[in-house]
Amino acid sequence: MTLSGFGPGPVQTDTALRLDGITYVAGRTLLDDVSVTFPAGKVTALSGPSGSGKTTLLSIAGGLLQATSGTAELDGREMWTGSGDPLPQVAFVLQVYGLVPILSARENVSIALRARGTAPADADEAAEAALARFGIADLGERQVEELSGGQMQRVACARGFVVGADVLLADEPTSELDEGNRGVVLAELREEAARGAVVVVATHDPAVVEACDLHIALDEGRVIR
Ligand SMILES: Nc1ncnc2c1ncn2[C@@H]1O[C@H](COP(=O)(O)OP(=O)(O)OP(=O)(O)O)[C@@H](O)[C@H]1O
Ligand SMILES: [Mg+2]
Repeated sequence: MTLSGFGPGPVQTDTALRLDGITYVAGRTLLDDVSVTFPAGKVTALSGPSGSGKTTLLSIAGGLLQATSGTAELDGREMWTGSGDPLPQVAFVLQVYGLVPILSARENVSIALRARGTAPADADEAAEAALARFGIADLGERQVEELSGGQMQRVACARGFVVGADVLLADEPTSELDEGNRGVVLAELREEAARGAVVVVATHDPAVVEACDLHIALDEGRVIR
């Protein structure tokens, strides 16, 4: 297997993110023996009621959180790096956005690339392009704390998508968006999969599930489909 690192470019499509026997206990059992495969080149929907464990599962899948037992591996490479810092090949769109309020929209996107070693001018240019993908090129200079919820959500999408990651984990990326912008995000998720990335989208929205290639459903920390 070859990992592309970062920047757009094909990744080998036999790549898959495999979770095997994942259990996560925090006071009580939040995930119970979850085994799922997220293949490269596909968009997989992860659905389930509020509190069913979607965010917890994505966090383990991307290496933010260490499972109590079980493994999460990208073609044999363990996702948990020992620190809670994900591998550079992994990008998240976080449910609570994780944006820096006092920075501009462009800076929030640009830092994802700068943190991976891209030169500032190149990172800024790529950030502008990523904002344009989500229809907010005109908001680059605006401080994030001045944006609406849906605008922030699109900045968070731009930041997740800009790195051209091998694994893109999007946690309810369309929850605050109107139908048109939801369609834009779905099309961009497809683009990432077409490039060969593993793409997982947690969602409550049946229309989003419908638009995905594969569907995994959780209920009370267990896989039910
Ligand atoms: N660190 C933690 N310690 C204890 N319980 C937690 C922790 N994190 C999450 N939980 C609980 O685990 C369960 C699953 O939470 P999680 O955020 O994964 O659900 P979710 O499916 O993403 O829900 P939503 O659709 O509302 O985002 C919830 O009952 C939540 O309260
Ligand atoms: Mg969640």
